[in-house]
This record gives sequence, structure tokens and C-alpha cells, in this order.
Amino acid sequence: MAEEQHLITDQRRYYPDAEAARDTWIGDYATAYEEYRNSPDKFWEGIANDLHWTRKWDRVLEWNNPDARWFIGAKGNITYNCLDRNVFNGRRNKVALIWKGEGEENERIYTYRQLHAAVCKFANGLKSLGVGKGDRVCIYLPMVPEQVIAMLACARIGAVHTVVFGGFGSAAIHARIVGSGAKVVVTADHSVRRGKTIPLKHLVEEAIIDAPTVEYVVVLRRETEHPIELHREMEVDFDELMASGSRRCPCEEMDAEDPLFILYTSGSTGAPKGIVHTFGGYMVGAYYTTKYVFDVKEQDTYWCSADPGWITGHTYVVYGPLMLGTTVLVSETTPDYPDAGNYWDMIEEYGVNIFYTAPTAIRMFIKMGDEWPDRYDLSSLRVLGSVGEPLNPEAWEWFYRVIGNSKLPIVDTWWQTETGMHMVTTMIGEPMKPGFAGKSIPGVVVDVVNGEGEPAPPGTVGFLAVREPWPAMMRTVLDNRELYEKYWNTIGNIYKAGDLAIKDEDGYIMVIGRSDDLIIVSGHNIGTAEVESALVSHKAVAEAAVIGKPDPLKGNIIKAFVTLKVGHEPSERLKKELIYHVRITLGPIAMPSEIEFADTLPKTRSGKIMRRVLKARELGMDPGDLSTLEE
Ligand code: WT7
Repeated sequence: MAEEQHLITDQRRYYPDAEAARDTWIGDYATAYEEYRNSPDKFWEGIANDLHWTRKWDRVLEWNNPDARWFIGAKGNITYNCLDRNVFNGRRNKVALIWKGEGEENERIYTYRQLHAAVCKFANGLKSLGVGKGDRVCIYLPMVPEQVIAMLACARIGAVHTVVFGGFGSAAIHARIVGSGAKVVVTADHSVRRGKTIPLKHLVEEAIIDAPTVEYVVVLRRETEHPIELHREMEVDFDELMASGSRRCPCEEMDAEDPLFILYTSGSTGAPKGIVHTFGGYMVGAYYTTKYVFDVKEQDTYWCSADPGWITGHTYVVYGPLMLGTTVLVSETTPDYPDAGNYWDMIEEYGVNIFYTAPTAIRMFIKMGDEWPDRYDLSSLRVLGSVGEPLNPEAWEWFYRVIGNSKLPIVDTWWQTETGMHMVTTMIGEPMKPGFAGKSIPGVVVDVVNGEGEPAPPGTVGFLAVREPWPAMMRTVLDNRELYEKYWNTIGNIYKAGDLAIKDEDGYIMVIGRSDDLIIVSGHNIGTAEVESALVSHKAVAEAAVIGKPDPLKGNIIKAFVTLKVGHEPSERLKKELIYHVRITLGPIAMPSEIEFADTLPKTRSGKIMRRVLKARELGMDPGDLSTLEE
């Protein structure tokens, strides 16, 4: 705890430049928060009234803990707000999407009119494959415009998308296809990364074995000179399907509580959890936070570097910014290719005003050196954002000084797949404290509490929790009511986020990290159980235990302790093979960086592996209470 105490007493404050804080949508934070607290329903109704509905709600909220229904009786379609409304309200020829791929001038640009047409065509294509309201569609694509188009096309016709991040391996895709019961899978021949093409379709071929719900696989063939062959009995060409559909596709009328998408997130025990979000509340939460937290203005060019395959991309690449009629940059490129100036080059080239990225990227920028950003004109930037894991004070200061020219606001946003939208940050204009995400945004009540749900004394570590329902909250965990209830019945009857945090005297929240068996590696949630079961599926492995080990660049790396079956010997060769095995089954993001062979693993008397003992030993720390340890 010594280090945390140090952090909390070392309270530097920064005030953003008066220019940046002037005329924000939020105005004065305290006033806005009070307005919300005085009348939560009125507050959210005010936001919802900004959006288009085909029928308005009878009531704002019905809350029977843990079940919430928002905007009861309301109807509409999120893509009407993302597309049609912009086309009809003067943004018809405004740029909606700028896509930048690797290589000089490799860009594709869609105006709102063009994006609307593409979405309608693909929506009609999906319909022609028999996809309708409530059907599930799995989208496994790299970061190309078609990924955004496919998501919106599903939403247009009421199909429920489940997007799988393009870096996942076949076992991970399989679990998500089977879990969601997908009827159609949308994929591509390959993705592009650091000058290399990475084949994708074969992973889907493996993933749909024993996935009986899948009827079609739609394949985007990016390589047009020598296109890969399609297995026509099941596979359909993406562009042909688009070409067959009309430019007009009416919006399916959705009830506010109809599911919009399922997004899988790592679970602390075993299988990934299918987080279910519904149309109405999610739409309002995504719209509100994008507009007010980033303070998006009409002329802004906005860049969130996340993949749409994560919740950050769902809410802050696709739905939020498009509802605001913003010009959104999407890029398949990486920060350090062709050189370490790539991101700064794009910010200069496209005149990016709002830049939202992850601590792991920021730490990588620091390592690559200030000379890279220094070479570019970053003066278009107005707002900086961070998400995914704690933004440590050193990284905060660097981001502020080098990228923000010691004057831009930084919004360090804490939220989750489950929350659907930002929950904690420092609203623009408020004093910023490096290391602290900030306070609850107006509209939510986040707190740091003890095991009973009572407020933890300022400066002490507690559980991060949410006291009141909010519109974009998940409605359930797919096919797992029990897991859903656990979020709301573990500490008192408030929402348990699974993070540890500290609140200071001013109510600012510092998020420390996960309190459960999740490891955040480069901002990605990895469940220890998933990696362990991948390891155990290798023929040589008897048992495996996985821990997160702090790493200056990635936040954490994965370290695995492995016991072998009789007849298998530890070797460097086997280590490599095990790492490779995890790469193939789960994908490169879940690969252990270190493997240690052990004769036994520490366990409780009931047989549960005690990862905390391994972790303490690894970090040279006190393992704490060992009374339940076997022998
Ligand atoms: C977990 C949720 C929400 C989009 C990305 C991750 C960690 C997220 C922050 C932040 C400290 C953060 C938490 C959280 N996290 N943002 N600003 N400061 N930690 O979504 O994969 O659902 O992960 O990411 O541990 O619980 P996710």
C-alpha cells in the first residue's frame, strides 16, 4: 500500500487552458451534476429528447434491482440517428468516415450519404440471406470501413451483432459464434499489419466446425487481383452481396429494450461473458457521453484509435460520434509503422481535433521518444482522451506536456463493456489530477466502497461500485442470469465493477486495477481461466496457473506456471510450443510472455489454485493469509 499512499499525497492539479474550457456542452460540472441528482429522470429525458424516436417513452425508468428498463414503450432505430438524420439535416455531403490503411494515400472516404447507402445495401444483402430482427450476426473483420458498415447494417434491420476482435484465434471465435447462436458470420480474406497481410478466413473455417447455427459466411475479399476462392455452398462475397441490395432500406422499428448487440468480455471464471446491450438506453448513453465528455463540435475531426471490435470502438468509434454527425477517422495502421511518427502524421494530415487512445499506446509513444511528435504540427488537437487501464501519473504528464502542449484537457475515462458508456472522468474545465480518472459524470453515481457497500474512507482502497442504474448499463449476461445478478448482489445491492480504487477528499477516483482474476494486457481484458484452459488443452500440460506481472509498457504481461503430465519433460522447445498453442487457440493478445515449469501449484484445500501466492512469490511480496493453503 506504501506506493498508493505516496500517489495520493502527491496531488498535483492542472487546469486546462481557458480556451479549451470555454463554451463546453456540459457548462459547469457541479451545476450539471446537481441537476441530475435533483431529478434523474428529467436529466436523462432531456438527453433522450435530442434524439429521433418513432414513439416516445411512457416512463423513463423502471428499476427492480437488478433489472432496469429504460425509456419504456419508446421505439426507433439507432441507425436513423447515425445516418438518416444527418443526411436529412444538412450533413448529407459532410464526411462521416475517413479510413486510413497502411501505405501512402491508402484512404477511403465516405460522406454521410455514401455511408447511409452502403449500410442500406448491406442491410438488404443480409435480409436476402434470411437475416431478420433478433437474429445474431458475428462480425470478424479487420479495421476496415466494412466493419462499421456491417455493424450498422445489422442494427438497421434489428439483427443483433456480436463483433469479434480481429486479433482473436479460432477457439475464441468459435466460442462467440456458438454462444451467440450466430446465423451469419462476416469476415475478410486478410488483415494488414506492419506491412504484412495476415490471413483471416481460415480461422473462421475452423471456428464454424460444430457451429450448427451458421448458415452463411460473408467474405470481404480485399485482394482483388488474385482473390481467394470461395466455397460457394456456404460462402458469399461481401461486395456481390452489397451490389445486389437496394440503396433504400427502411429502419426496423426497435423497442427501447430490444437487444442491439452482444459483446463478449473475459470472465473471471471460464468462458467469456456475452454482455447484452439494448437499443434505447445504450443509444442515449452513447450519444450523451460522446457529446459531453469529448465536447464534440460540428467542425471537429474525431479519432478514437480503438478497434470497433471492443466496446470502446462500438460506443466511441461507431455509434456515439456518428449520432453527433461527426467526421470520424478510422485507421488500420499501428502507432509505430512505417515509423514511430505514424499517429502524429495522421493527426497533422487530417487535422484531428479530438484524440482518444489507450495508456499502453501512450507508454509506447514515450519509449519511442519526443522527437517523433516534435516533428509534426499537432496544433489541431483540442481534447485528449485515455481509456482501458490506469493512466499512471508519468504517462499523464507526458501526454499533457508533449501532445497537449501543456494546455489541453485530458479525459481519462473509466468505464467497462458492461457499463456501455463513460462513467468516471474529469469533465473538461474541471481541475485535472494526474493518476486520477476523476469523478462520476453527471448521470451516474460511482463510489468507492467497502465489502458492505458503505463508502470507504477517503484515501483508502475499496471496491469501485455504482449506486444507481444508468441507461447504457448491460441488461443481462447472455444465457447466464446468475452471473448478471452477481454484479448487483455481491456488495450490498449496488453494482460491483470488479476494480479496486481510491477516492480522495475531493471525490476524485484513482482506479488501481482489477480485484478479480482478470489481467489487463495492453488495455485488453484477459481472463486467467481462458489462458489456463488453453494451456491445459495441450497434450503435455497437466495444470496451469496464470498471473499478471506488472510491465512498464503493457501494464501487465501474462506469466504462466505449468505442471506437465508424466512422460513430458520441461524444455525451451516446449515453452515455445505452449506459447504457440495459446496464440493459435486464443490469439496473440492472450499469449503468455513467460512460462515457468513447476512440480506442483499452490492450492487451497478445496483444490482451487491460489494465484495470489504465485503472484506474491513472483513479485517478492508478502503472500498474505495462507491458512487455506494445502500442506
Ligand atoms: C476494465 C474494463 C471501457 C473500455 C475499455 C475496456 C479497466 C478501463 C480505465 C481507466 C483505469 C480502466 C478497468 C475496467 N479500465 N478504463 N480509465 N482507468 N482502469 O473495457 O475490456 O470491459 O475492461 O478496464 O479495470 O474494469 P473492458
